Amino acid sequence: MTNPDELDLGDSLPTSSSVDAVGRPMPVFPAPRPLNGHGPARIIAMCNQKGGVGKTTTTINLAAALAEYGRKVLIVDFDPQGAASVGLGVPVHDLDNTIYTLLMAARPDVHGAVQHTRVPGLDIIPANIDLSAAEVQLVGEVARESVLARILRDVAGEYDVILIDCQPSLGLLTVNALTAAHGVLIPLECEFFALRGVALLVETIEKVSDRLNPRLKIDGIVATMYDPRTLHAREVVERVYEAFGDNLLHTVINRTVKFPDASVAAEPITSYAPNHAGAQAYRQLARELIARGDAA
Ligand SMILES: Nc1ncnc2c1ncn2[C@@H]1O[C@H](COP(=O)(O)OP(=O)(O)OP(=O)(O)O)[C@@H](O)[C@H]1O
Ligand SMILES: [Mg+2]
Repeated sequence: MTNPDELDLGDSLPTSSSVDAVGRPMPVFPAPRPLNGHGPARIIAMCNQKGGVGKTTTTINLAAALAEYGRKVLIVDFDPQGAASVGLGVPVHDLDNTIYTLLMAARPDVHGAVQHTRVPGLDIIPANIDLSAAEVQLVGEVARESVLARILRDVAGEYDVILIDCQPSLGLLTVNALTAAHGVLIPLECEFFALRGVALLVETIEKVSDRLNPRLKIDGIVATMYDPRTLHAREVVERVYEAFGDNLLHTVINRTVKFPDASVAAEPITSYAPNHAGAQAYRQLARELIARGDAA
């Protein structure tokens, strides 16, 4: 018998379909126009306090797709697990300069912490386990919610998009990400409990936008690990659509083993399997965000 985990659904992505996963007409998202210059960056926080929903996978692959379209992109790895750094082949042990050292420094050398990746146009400020101490250490700081915002000001002029890969929590680090951001992208795994906790996330976003960062908005919800063969996955996206309307992006990301495979290879899927439908899906997501005005 075939192991369902080994089935590759990459080829059944609805990218070429005329309707999306909830039956809305699928717009054609045009190829983005080349940019004449770079910056200032639009800052997007990839956020969901539920673990394992595709935040890091979406950060890496959306960033790589935007870079393919000629955008200059910076990833901020904001999770002590360092998954975004590792997933892009950046060694995280024995680093002198990480997002943690920037958060703790009186005069942070932000450029000194930026590393180039193998993807042209894609840089990263890495993180490692040191970051797990930051939450406690920041508590006593003045303006503790806006430490990351101040750090990013130093480099925002050089990038078109900055993506912050948040950890699965709504603690002070995530509040820092929301305070620094213009928009939030919420990856939602297409499974039964997907919507649990989203109300709390939305409440947190509203509080941050009321009290700390009035420009903050929800850019969209991106359904991940979608299995078009199951009624269940279709029901989940229907319910997300009922709850959030057109905040649900047209692009959905199918479940495929190519994503974990690409992580093992420490590459985005766009270079690991450039013609795979999973790579096409993230390119479409990049085009959809650009068309909505949510990315440069
Ligand atoms: N579309 C997909 N199809 C199949 N597997 C996927 C898909 N997206 C992500 N995964 C896998 O699911 C796991 C969790 O994904 P990911 O690390 O991106 O989630 P996360 O939200 O960043 O998790 P955490 O909350 O722990 O930071 C990883 O092993 C990843 O390779
Ligand atoms: Mg992650």
